[in-house]
Amino acid sequence: MAVKILYGTETGNSEELAKQACETLKKDNIDCEVSDMGDVSLNDLKSYKTVLFITSTWGDGDAPGNAVDLLEALQAEKEKCLSDMDYAVFGIGESIYEHFCQAAIDFDEALANLGAKRLLPVEKSEDDNESNLQEWLKNLTTKIKV
Ligand SMILES: Cc1cc2nc3c(=O)[nH]c(=O)nc-3n(C[C@H](O)[C@H](O)[C@H](O)COP(=O)(O)O)c2cc1C
Repeated sequence: MAVKILYGTETGNSEELAKQACETLKKDNIDCEVSDMGDVSLNDLKSYKTVLFITSTWGDGDAPGNAVDLLEALQAEKEKCLSDMDYAVFGIGESIYEHFCQAAIDFDEALANLGAKRLLPVEKSEDDNESNLQEWLKNLTTKIKV
């Protein structure tokens, strides 16, 4: 099954990174698909095997607009309903903000609480550091089971 790459964004930076990640994985012969988090429900997630979450943070440590519903659904769920899923979270933000990459941290915690298996620690990246994504993917490709 294809690796799902979901992006949470306000102004497109995470979407751009998600597309770059997909290109890189495809070069490594890992099949993948990019989706807007706003188009994915908790129910959809239950059927995915490997999911990469790439999200920015807005406001005062909040999830970006298209990611709010999914994060809230994850946080409200009580059953360990994602125990068949492997995941990793890549956050972008700016460390001048008090809650640096908080949305990524919140996704990571919520997914782990629902039994999903974390492939890598949550990555907190400055949004202008382009090499971080490729480094993260390099570490990830050895762990993705396809
Ligand atoms: C009003 C505003 C609030 C922000 N709040 C945060 C924040 O709390 N934490 C953080 O790490 N980055 C914060 N950022 C930085 C954004 O996450 C960063 O600009 C990111 O690249 C946006 O990516 P996107 O286009 O995918 O949404 C904020 C930016 C703006 C303009």
